[in-house]
Amino acid sequence: MKQVLLLAGDGIGPEIMAQAKKVLALLRAHGLALNVLEGNIGGAGVDSEGVPYPESTRALVAQADAVLLACVGGKKWDNLPRDLRPEQGLLAIRADLGVFANLRPVKAISALSEQSSLKKELIEGLDLLIVRELTGDIYFGQPRGIEMQEGERIGFNTMRYSETEIRRIAKVAFEAARARNKSVCSIDKMNVLECSQLWREVVQAVSADYPDVRLTHMLVDNAAMQLIRQPKAFDVLLTGNLFGDILSDEASMLTGSIGLLPSASVREDGVGLYEPIHGSAPDIAGQNKANPLAMILSVGMMLRYSLEQPLLCEKIEQAVEAVINQGLRTADIAQKGQEIATTDEMGEAVCAQLQQLLAL
Ligand code: IPM
Ligand code: MG
Repeated sequence: MKQVLLLAGDGIGPEIMAQAKKVLALLRAHGLALNVLEGNIGGAGVDSEGVPYPESTRALVAQADAVLLACVGGKKWDNLPRDLRPEQGLLAIRADLGVFANLRPVKAISALSEQSSLKKELIEGLDLLIVRELTGDIYFGQPRGIEMQEGERIGFNTMRYSETEIRRIAKVAFEAARARNKSVCSIDKMNVLECSQLWREVVQAVSADYPDVRLTHMLVDNAAMQLIRQPKAFDVLLTGNLFGDILSDEASMLTGSIGLLPSASVREDGVGLYEPIHGSAPDIAGQNKANPLAMILSVGMMLRYSLEQPLLCEKIEQAVEAVINQGLRTADIAQKGQEIATTDEMGEAVCAQLQQLLAL
């Protein structure tokens, strides 16, 4: 039986995870065989065991086929030393699992096209996928630190990619493009950085194995511009860790709310980590206001990529779309004057739709 580990984390994490649990309970009631465990991460890890990625959690992760994580971080832990900050828990679990491929789909939902900061015609029908490398780059490169040099402090980090790391993430992007519109745009900063020069050379070499996929290269500053100028020109965007972090937040705004976007982080054997791309939103935590849809859609991605249940993933996506089409809106996706649904109401509405779809 597949093992799934739930890590609710901090801020709005427990509230949105509660909705994911309702979805999982419903699927299990319909015969999905799953063993579900729970653990602590981030600030919750610091509070319970003194570190953001506790040993007890690491032990559970080692047995899991998939990990579903809500979000980490909050004021309470902001002044801790860097290695105890909640975000370190996130980086540690990604590295520990070795989930090097972060998939961030960005799909416009037509009923929400008014919510986007861009004109309707620019985003209607938008469907792109960001393939972000997740366990390398300046996030993990050595040396790093803050040191005294000639009487002042110097901060430094290392942007670093090996050919192996570039090759394996490029393959993921080309494979993904094959199942989509057969086009990969690789993002780099090769006019300035050696690391990017190697990135471009290796991606170009990998593309020889995918003659059916069109490859283009784009500098990251231009990509940031094109993403809001003509986002529909993109199919698969292939990026390193840092550029992907920035571009995926930018891209999330195209859909109207970051509260709608799930992500999958996977490795070759299918084990994966699934999280919404948004943060822990401490300003609205505990108020039953957060949008649980990115979390619920992350359950969908988990079913597709780690649990071999693509049909259930589709049903979850359909249920979410139906709820949005019914007009249910949490505050982040509501227009002025629209009635606001709570986190619980949204979760329950998705379950009600899903229940119907499962009965078909
Ligand atoms: C993300 C987040 C994380 C990242 C932070 C919280 C460490 O911004 O998942 O995009 O930078 O990867
Ligand atoms: Mg980010």
